[in-house]
Amino acid sequence: MLAIVPVILFSALSLPAYSKSSSLNILLTNDDSWASANIRATYSALKADGHNVLLVAPAVQQSGRGGTFVLPTTNITPPGGEFGSIPVGAPYFGHDKNDQNLWYFNGTPAASAVFGIDIIAPMHFGSKPIDLVVSGPNEGGNNGPFLYTLSGTIGASYASVERGIPAIAISAGNGTHRSFTTNTGAKDDPANIAAQLVASFVAALARGIDTTKTRLLPLGVGIGINMPVFGPGNSCVAPPFISTRMTGGATIDKISIDPTTGFPVSTDLVANGLNVLLNGNTRLPGETIISAECKTAVSVYSVDYDAPSAVADPIQKHLASLFGKTKLD
Ligand SMILES: *[C@@H]1O[C@H](CO)[C@@H](O)[C@H](O)[C@H]1NC(C)=O
Repeated sequence: MLAIVPVILFSALSLPAYSKSSSLNILLTNDDSWASANIRATYSALKADGHNVLLVAPAVQQSGRGGTFVLPTTNITPPGGEFGSIPVGAPYFGHDKNDQNLWYFNGTPAASAVFGIDIIAPMHFGSKPIDLVVSGPNEGGNNGPFLYTLSGTIGASYASVERGIPAIAISAGNGTHRSFTTNTGAKDDPANIAAQLVASFVAALARGIDTTKTRLLPLGVGIGINMPVFGPGNSCVAPPFISTRMTGGATIDKISIDPTTGFPVSTDLVANGLNVLLNGNTRLPGETIISAECKTAVSVYSVDYDAPSAVADPIQKHLASLFGKTKLD
């Protein structure tokens, strides 16, 4: 017992100046389920960096749900949790039996994040606030505004931002849906590459910030990160971070009718309405173009969806009589 005292003193004295920001309270979520390889590898990587990590994520795959907010009204229904992770009939939320920081919730991604914020985090972090919501890494890229609205991974991040909590959404180009039990443990397993990149990003975001005094991101602002494709045998293992914008080379679906089946099929279209330059730094490259190379795109977003006043003013002026006004206020 006595030997413990000097050890504690030594470590307290040797803490670096920015130590207060080095251990964050992180709520980790995603849309591919709590049992996916990427989220579990990221959980381990963030914990290894000394963060207090609480994972609260959907019980089953919830890709493409955007910000849809669906709460459970039953316990777990057939076929059970993703990859057999939860038995049929289990409660609608619960934790791993060996780790009380790993939670599932049977709702959409945005609802899972908010369930984490309102119900689980207060039990876990007490009165201390969540410093950062980390959503992902998604299995597959989510580049551009069309996927921003569509992606459940990004949906969980913007719902968190709207609740006032700094949040980042991460999407990895490799779209393979896989259980954490398939992680090879090798450094170049794509889940582990993605996890290390998230840990590096979080360290950079927190560097020099005392979160008891300063938020990690301004109110209403989040970050969307798109990683390139990596995997076994792929030469892309260390994609550098590049500052980007959401528009530029971004795609939306175009629909045509398959002449053989008569059913609609979709293909990617680089549409002009999707790639306008109205907000942000217009000199930055588009995230779609950057993450197609061996680079990680980092775009800063806001949830203030109003058009800039220079764009909105003439429209509002044109409609002034509709608003019962003779001139613009
Ligand atoms: C994506 O990841 C899976 C699982 O590790 C791997 O089998 C696959 O080869 C990867 N894809 C690419 C294009 O590297």
